[in-house]
Amino acid sequence: MKIGNTNIKNGLFLAPMAGYTDRAMRLVCHNMGAEYSVTEMVSAKAVVFRDKKTFTLAKIFSDEGPVAIQIFGSEPSIMAEAAKILSEREECRDAVAIDINMGCPVKKIFSNGDGSALMKNPALIEKITRAVKESTHLPVTVKIRTGIDEHHINALDCALAAEAAGADALCIHGRTTAQMYGGKADKKIIEKVKSALQIPLIANGDITNAEEALTMFSDTGADGIAIGRGAVGNPFIFSEILSALSGTDYTKPTLKERVDTALYQLREAIADKGERVAVTEARGQIALYLKGFSGAARIRGEINRATTLEEVKSSLCSALTDSEN
Ligand SMILES: Cc1cc2nc3c(=O)[nH]c(=O)nc-3n(C[C@H](O)[C@H](O)[C@H](O)COP(=O)(O)O)c2cc1C
Repeated sequence: MKIGNTNIKNGLFLAPMAGYTDRAMRLVCHNMGAEYSVTEMVSAKAVVFRDKKTFTLAKIFSDEGPVAIQIFGSEPSIMAEAAKILSEREECRDAVAIDINMGCPVKKIFSNGDGSALMKNPALIEKITRAVKESTHLPVTVKIRTGIDEHHINALDCALAAEAAGADALCIHGRTTAQMYGGKADKKIIEKVKSALQIPLIANGDITNAEEALTMFSDTGADGIAIGRGAVGNPFIFSEILSALSGTDYTKPTLKERVDTALYQLREAIADKGERVAVTEARGQIALYLKGFSGAARIRGEINRATTLEEVKSSLCSALTDSEN
């Protein structure tokens, strides 16, 4: 599959997650086999206002593999201007695409008419996609859900509107807005959208292991799959899926490998954000690296109070010592 000039051989994407998919997470997932990732969503309005923090979120680094910048908003001219600004910024020079968020269900976003609220209006989807496409030299991709609720399943109309306006690829999360993150991702709708589109389709929702990844590929015919929550504290999922795709044996990471990877991710985050912010933000993710190991609950408690790398390190190392005894 290709998105613009970017060749994506294994079809494995890291899905965008606000508060999670910073450079450190993207880098770790890339090292494990995710071929393409997307930044946390950034507000188009904030980009247009030249908000400094927003440019930090949109910053792309050359060592993390292909990354798209995701924007949200609902006014075509602002979305277009934001895409143009980001395409021309020095710190975004390595971005490979602009991704438009049309799937966010969060109340604050939805009630502003942004995110998945755009799916109420396929004509607006077409306008926004066209305006963004005309404003940037980068490929433009779109991320949607299946619809607003079970009575309004219109992913196909929305996908076709985006494609007609020039979208280069589309990602679909197989849930409605009303479902938020509950229930199950609907593969039938994803398959229906895939069959109708000419552009590459990336399927998303509920992939937490290699078996579910293979099923997502085979049930939907998708060109790629995007993994979100399944990669939090478990970037190894990408190597697990790669092994399954190539039919080779997979050995689960040891506790030591998990601890080492968690610390590597934390050090990278500290390099970008400073110790206090990085440690505070990473607490949940680090605890998930230990999921399933004995003593994980105690260590989660310790990590939730940690404010320094040394504190996190000593908690994680105590997990290793416990496991050896
Ligand atoms: C904490 C969190 C933050 C998210 N932030 C974004 C976001 O910024 N942009 C976006 O398009 N989707 C966002 N999503 C949705 C995910 O990209 C993905 O579509 C969803 O989690 C389903 O995939 P999964 O089952 O693999 O997690 C977010 C999801 C979570 C759980």
